[in-house]
Amino acid sequence: MERLDKILAGTGRWSRREVRELVKAGRVTVNGITARSAEEKYDREGLDLRVDGEPVSGEKYVYLMLHKPAGYVSATDDPRETTVLELLPSHLRRVGLFPAGRLDKDTEGLLLLTNDGPLAHALLSPRRHVDKTYFVRVDGALDCSDEEAFAAGMTLGDGLVCLPAGLERLEAPNEALVTLREGKYHQIKRMLAARGKPVVYLKRLTMGPLKLDESLAAGEWRPLTAAEQGALKALEGK
Ligand code: URA
Repeated sequence: MERLDKILAGTGRWSRREVRELVKAGRVTVNGITARSAEEKYDREGLDLRVDGEPVSGEKYVYLMLHKPAGYVSATDDPRETTVLELLPSHLRRVGLFPAGRLDKDTEGLLLLTNDGPLAHALLSPRRHVDKTYFVRVDGALDCSDEEAFAAGMTLGDGLVCLPAGLERLEAPNEALVTLREGKYHQIKRMLAARGKPVVYLKRLTMGPLKLDESLAAGEWRPLTAAEQGALKALEGK
């Protein structure tokens, strides 16, 4: 049994104070009855929880899509650097969220924050080869030899063996979309440095079925929709 404010705040959509206000305003129903107190305890199992008539899942896990800005490290705490968790309001820093997969400090774009360990594991497992797509800008001009090298699978001078990857050139000769099926340390930067075209800007656009929401400015986040959560869970079942 858990308190109503804990269950609702755990979705990441409201703070406990906001939940208390929703309850006070009569906007929350539990099993069809208007909730009287945010402190009332319920069993999550089979709970019909609604806010303004809209069903809210009482799931214990939180899934957030963050548009990571440059300058933040993909970690939960760091003695010297600012972490991506510091972009969240305080109530969301206490629910055990961590970044599912890392982006370099200077890389921007899609980062999933969750406290669902099994799902993060499935998403990141090298066995599953979940595709990730990045927008890349380099110092230099990309050509078809770069596309071919990526498609063939590169072995770098430092010994890094890369699976075949996609490089799709864009209109500007120094820009491309790169798709990886793995995520080794500084991988895109190392691959393009090996081609003599160092990365000057990198942004992740997709990760498996998730696409960066264009309406999120750098530094903004939102909970995953039910459809996005469903698509991730389908991956876990594979
Ligand atoms: N490849 C990189 O080099 N850096 C990232 O952050 C992600 C992929």
